[in-house]
Amino acid sequence: MCGIVGYIGSRKIDTVLLKALSRLEYRGYDSAGLATVNQGTLSILKEPGKLTRLVMRVKENPVAGTLGIGHTRWATHGEPSERNAHPHSDCTNTVAIVHNGIIENHDTLKSHLIREGHKFTSDTDTEVLAHLIERFHVIQGCGLEESVRRTIGEIKGSYAFCVVSSREENVFIAARNGSPLVVGLGNGENFVASDAPAIVDFTRNAVFLEDYQMAVVSRDEVKITSNAGERIREKVVRIDWDAKDVSKEGFEHFMLKEIEEQPAVIDRLFRMRFENGGEPKLFDVLRFDVSQLKKVERVVIQACGTSWHAALTGKFFFESLSGIPAEVDVSSEFRYRKLIPQKKELLLSITQSGETIDTLMGLRHAKQSGFKALSICNVLGSTVTRESDAVIYTHAGPEIGVASTKAYTAQLGVLFALSLWWARERGSVNEGTYRRLADEFRELPDKMRKIISAKDRVLEIAEKYFQARDFLFLARGINYPNAHEGALKIKEIAYIHATGHPAGEMKHGPIALIDENMPVVAIMPESSVYEKMVSNIQEVKARSGKLIVVTTEGNTAIERLADDVIYIPETSEFLSPFLSVLPLQYLAYYVATLRGTDVDQPRNLAKSVTVE
Ligand code: M6R
Repeated sequence: MCGIVGYIGSRKIDTVLLKALSRLEYRGYDSAGLATVNQGTLSILKEPGKLTRLVMRVKENPVAGTLGIGHTRWATHGEPSERNAHPHSDCTNTVAIVHNGIIENHDTLKSHLIREGHKFTSDTDTEVLAHLIERFHVIQGCGLEESVRRTIGEIKGSYAFCVVSSREENVFIAARNGSPLVVGLGNGENFVASDAPAIVDFTRNAVFLEDYQMAVVSRDEVKITSNAGERIREKVVRIDWDAKDVSKEGFEHFMLKEIEEQPAVIDRLFRMRFENGGEPKLFDVLRFDVSQLKKVERVVIQACGTSWHAALTGKFFFESLSGIPAEVDVSSEFRYRKLIPQKKELLLSITQSGETIDTLMGLRHAKQSGFKALSICNVLGSTVTRESDAVIYTHAGPEIGVASTKAYTAQLGVLFALSLWWARERGSVNEGTYRRLADEFRELPDKMRKIISAKDRVLEIAEKYFQARDFLFLARGINYPNAHEGALKIKEIAYIHATGHPAGEMKHGPIALIDENMPVVAIMPESSVYEKMVSNIQEVKARSGKLIVVTTEGNTAIERLADDVIYIPETSEFLSPFLSVLPLQYLAYYVATLRGTDVDQPRNLAKSVTVE
């Protein structure tokens, strides 16, 4: 999704804007640009393609000044090209704007503006904003702040934007409705960005703008107001991670770094959610009485992509550990369903970013239907967390790779902690079982480290199969969601068609795909459904499929059947998904690198999907 940055202060303007933009590259984009104001002159530079092209352009055309905005664009209206790249300007080259979101009534507005004599130079919806501001600011002579307010009054749709004007060199304006914006507070300087990674090189004090709010940003002051102009007291939060968390730190890719951060993430979750020097703290935000949560009789879970896979595993935890029935839906379907809430039912939304539009709309839909809403989220202050009645953060640190890895196991960790909390409260597990499972959770990081140290085995397997046309992933029971997750990882970063199936479904169709060219990954650690899995993979073997088996250490018997085996340490069946997913993440990673794809920013994908 598009990335926005804005800066006012005494740093070198091109350095700060380009650095901030580079921190937003992970969101996915296909062009980039910046605008600066210097001694009454507005300069705009933009380039299609990667940020490195803009960096070259700036080198050839140095910019100066103390005020500027920048953008990475993920094309929606109009192809990725220089003319469609942001910033966009008005007819007089006085204002420049960078925007994320969609202006729904841009066609109507554009027709009016053209009749008024404005000349458009791009195919974007954003350009109408520049001409509307021009109408109020340049033609009618209003100040920039007032012009932005009037412009907001004319538009429909979602937006986060930053605007500069060559007539007002001491200020820039930011506004949001539906797309995230964070204001970074500095000393004699201030920042705005779509996401915190863009500001943590400079400051960790931040204000997250709410919908229908504007920020009037000067060097020494940030004034937050409603769109109507009422002053709002800002809530300053301290971002609890720093620049090294958004750097590769010697790893070739963020994805690899993030796979290998998983032991630390699970260790942190254990200390926060199980130990915490006494009574563990589970909820970070709880805007209703905890007794209502204890009495919940049904959980409805909604999420997208990898978070949906975590939700599917969560259903197993809730039903088998807590004794609470659960249903799971993908948010893009859930948000359009007729909901029939029962008493004592809870909505659970799971989202790494907290900005996924379908998940957000699903949350709003459920709240309107009377649900209480709990969310599991990784990003502090994100929209989903602000609109939920209760929040548990995953505390996985910033996840930069588009492919979700550590956020996934952190989601599983929180779901496990929540289900055990419920189980204990409702008496569905005794203290002995609680302790045993908590102790097994504590051992996960070391077991993950063991898998990480054996990653070369996965590389060897990747070298055998990286040219395959398709992959199948099979599993049963609590590991079945990982079959979907393994397939999604291969699809999104290696661009290989892959599907995940409950192994028992094979004979209902997918088995027809098996031949000697089809690699089949069977996820089958020691479990209550292990023997069933053996029967299913016999069927694959009988049809000459290539079998890659992920199983528990010591299960050497499987080598008679499998072409390749990846061993994971023994753990309780409930916790086996935490371990069985690591080889799948590595497999996708190695297959992708062998195929030479862009692992961290795969084509056509954005880290957080904020448009429908
Ligand atoms: O931020 P969210 O967890 O709401 O994102 C949901 C999906 O877009 C996300 O998990 C996506 O599927 C990942 N690219 C998967 O690796």
